Amino acid sequence: MGPRLMLLLAVVNEVVATFRPRHLSPCRVEKTYVYCNSLNLKHIPSDLPPDIQVLDMSYNFLQNLTDEFLSFYTSIHELNLYNNEVSFVQPGLFKDFANLENLDLSKNHLDQFAQLTYGIGPLPKVKTLDLSSNGLYSGMPPVFLHNASALLNVSLSGNSITKIDKDTFSGAPALKSIDLSNNVILEIEDGAFESLPDLTELNLSTNSITCIVDFNLIQLKLLNLSKNSIESFHTTDSENEHNLLYLDLSENKILYFPVLPKRNKLIYLDLSRNLLQTVSVGPLTDDLSYISYSWFAETTSSWNKTISGSGTETNLTKLLYLDLSYNEIKSISDKFFSMMRSLELLNLSNNCLISFTVGSDTLNSLDTLDLNFNALQNLSFASNALRSLKKLYLKSNNLQTLAAQVFSHLPQIQLIDLQENHVSICKYNPTSPGLSRSSNKTDCIFLAGISSLLYLYLSSNTIKYIPQYAFYGTPLLVLDVSNNKDLQLHEKSFFGLDSSLKYLYLHKNSLKSLTVDISLLTGIKHVILSDNQLTELSPWNKESSIEVLDLRNNKLPFIQHHTVTILEKSLKRLYVSGNPLDCCSNSRFLHMVQKSTVEIPEINVLKCHFSNNPELKELPFLNVSQEDCDKQDAKIITIVIIIIMALFVSVFIGLISKCYRERRLKSRGSYKARPEGI
Ligand SMILES: *[C@@H]1O[C@H](CO)[C@@H](O)[C@H](O)[C@H]1NC(C)=O
Ligand SMILES: *[C@@H]1O[C@H](CO)[C@@H](O)[C@H](O)[C@H]1NC(C)=O
Ligand SMILES: *[C@@H]1O[C@H](CO)[C@@H](O)[C@H](O)[C@H]1NC(C)=O
Ligand SMILES: *[C@@H]1O[C@H](CO)[C@@H](O)[C@H](O)[C@H]1NC(C)=O
Ligand SMILES: *[C@@H]1O[C@H](CO)[C@@H](O)[C@H](O)[C@H]1NC(C)=O
Ligand SMILES: *[C@@H]1O[C@H](CO)[C@@H](O)[C@H](O)[C@H]1NC(C)=O
Ligand SMILES: *[C@@H]1O[C@H](CO)[C@@H](O)[C@H](O)[C@H]1NC(C)=O
Ligand SMILES: *[C@@H]1O[C@H](CO)[C@@H](O)[C@H](O)[C@H]1NC(C)=O
Ligand SMILES: *[C@@H]1O[C@H](CO)[C@@H](O)[C@H](O)[C@H]1NC(C)=O
Ligand SMILES: *[C@@H]1O[C@H](CO)[C@@H](O)[C@H](O)[C@H]1NC(C)=O
Ligand SMILES: *[C@@H]1O[C@H](CO)[C@@H](O)[C@H](O)[C@H]1NC(C)=O
Repeated sequence: MGPRLMLLLAVVNEVVATFRPRHLSPCRVEKTYVYCNSLNLKHIPSDLPPDIQVLDMSYNFLQNLTDEFLSFYTSIHELNLYNNEVSFVQPGLFKDFANLENLDLSKNHLDQFAQLTYGIGPLPKVKTLDLSSNGLYSGMPPVFLHNASALLNVSLSGNSITKIDKDTFSGAPALKSIDLSNNVILEIEDGAFESLPDLTELNLSTNSITCIVDFNLIQLKLLNLSKNSIESFHTTDSENEHNLLYLDLSENKILYFPVLPKRNKLIYLDLSRNLLQTVSVGPLTDDLSYISYSWFAETTSSWNKTISGSGTETNLTKLLYLDLSYNEIKSISDKFFSMMRSLELLNLSNNCLISFTVGSDTLNSLDTLDLNFNALQNLSFASNALRSLKKLYLKSNNLQTLAAQVFSHLPQIQLIDLQENHVSICKYNPTSPGLSRSSNKTDCIFLAGISSLLYLYLSSNTIKYIPQYAFYGTPLLVLDVSNNKDLQLHEKSFFGLDSSLKYLYLHKNSLKSLTVDISLLTGIKHVILSDNQLTELSPWNKESSIEVLDLRNNKLPFIQHHTVTILEKSLKRLYVSGNPLDCCSNSRFLHMVQKSTVEIPEINVLKCHFSNNPELKELPFLNVSQEDCDKQDAKIITIVIIIIMALFVSVFIGLISKCYRERRLKSRGSYKARPEGI
């Protein structure tokens, strides 16, 4: 073929392309992408460019897929038929689609097709196939998968499959990822997945599986079994190395710690929302045989305790994430963690722990420890444990008597959440810190000198007093001591926090006065003082850096002139509603409000009253004008003048009447006789 002929062919092609009826169909064409979604179509339009690669037909009313329309577009790579009414596919339709890699048939009526038992025919190049939400039930998946040698990824989620047969996936041996979530799977036949050497992800979440016996899928990297009814998980006793990295067993009915592969790479294990009561180290039973007796017949709850430790003989040295939250664990021995040298996050929240102890050289990679919502009374950490711990959550426990230095040995701790406990804070003497050192249990805990701690939450602890220097040497950024009724503050309670503290929460503390000069905290940005009984803000004597000040629901009649002067410089937002504000004693404040340099979110509902004149009702704060107050003042002045005048007049009258009386007596000439000698 000479170059001339080539050129001619090219021209002809061009001409043909120009005369092709392109824009008859209502679809949007963008190069090789065609969007025909949501157009009420019953057929695939036949007038689309033949070289299209992506065809989106989702949200239409297609029923039959036949080569009548589709055969024009054998070049497509991706066909999206999500949410149609497809109930028939011409067998072998896709055998000539040499590029079709991605086929989405989800949300159709393919159960009707599968009943005909034709088989969809070969899917030679399809890598990703979505068959979710098609009403398919057991035995139907092979109709679509029987000749799909290139298939890597299949979703059968949201169907009605109850059983996975042995040969379900035998026509798709290259599968890497199978999503079977949201079915009603009760049974998986032996060998269903074993023949898939590349299978790395298996999603069986939200099914009805009751137990996993002899787990042996060494090729899997991710196994999701969440939201089933699993009572036990048991790996085959073997020395084979498993590749499993992620195992999600959350929201099941697991009673005992799973029997995991002896040799594993597990980094993520989620056992949250199960029925675990103990995970203690039992005797290392090599006799695992008794476990495999009739898992279905026996109710696991009648099993004996010895089984409980069996999981811990597994080597979990690579585990990073362990979630045991929402179980019924009453105690946990720290030996349980001795293998978990890499563990970074341990979630034990919402259990029934009374005591938690970490022995020496344990959990030294742990970054986050969540013990929220337990019943902890005892808590102790060996001095060389938890050396990486940054976040410690202890909310809603029963902590009261603890070793005073319990938190002082955590070299990297940044956050301690002690909300809803019964702790109190030790006094600290910066001149002789050694005196107070003791590892004995005390009624208070030391919070001073924890040089890495930034976030401290102590609300709802019935703390009565924050002694002086309580946080000295602890560079807190956030301090929450709210909701401690009848809290007393020492003048130097916050001493040492000057430059670090930015957020201070003191609400709901029944504070009658503020004994601390908050403006001494030179870095402070947010001060929450709402729901107290403050009648005044004690003098603030320095330049303030406060940006948000919450004074709601106190007993403040006014904001002092000098406080306003100090605040004005930095304040951005102020909350003052719920105070018996006086309209006229707040002229400077009113000025600040009306100048509106400061945002007062409730300014339109903020009211004040005229204390000197109860007859005047409450007024919206913004409506108060200087004249109202001047008028009030004028009235007061008038009243005062009247009173003075009345006094003056009465005195005058009194004098006159006295004079008159005396004159009358004189005119009568009868002086009173005085005793002699005076
Ligand atoms: C699909 O095929 C069935 C019978 O095979 C027929 O009754 C139906 O009308 C067809 N639907 C469309 C939209 O062509
Ligand atoms: C799969 O389809 C191909 C054609 O693409 C065919 O040659 C082959 O025999 C089919 N295999 C099976 C097992 O049906
Ligand atoms: C499988 O499909 C899902 C969603 O369609 C996608 O996120 C994932 O990357 C796919 N995996 C492979 C191996 O193609
Ligand atoms: C498993 O399926 C559920 C529900 O369909 C989905 O939310 C989740 O992302 C899937 N997980 C994986 C790893 O595919
Ligand atoms: C497992 O599936 C659930 C949905 O049921 C999902 O929320 C979760 O993230 C999945 N787990 C993993 C590890 O992907
Ligand atoms: C379980 O322990 C009880 C005693 O606590 C014993 O009588 C029973 O035989 C044990 N059952 C098994 C299966 O070991
Ligand atoms: C645990 O496994 C790691 C490798 O994954 C290995 O180095 C270590 O020796 C094992 N520890 C025990 C006690 O088996
Ligand atoms: C621990 O689990 C609970 C409940 O499952 C969750 O709310 C919490 O965020 C988890 N904690 C951490 C630190 O991830
Ligand atoms: C707490 O610890 C003390 C000794 O340190 C012990 O006597 C007490 O029984 C423990 N309480 C609990 C509930 O473990
Ligand atoms: C606890 O206190 C007692 C006496 O108060 C003392 O004898 C003992 O040494 C202290 N224990 C520790 C570990 O400091
Ligand atoms: C407050 O002033 C606004 C207009 O600035 C007025 O509409 C409103 O009626 C006044 N409210 C009272 C109670 O005087």
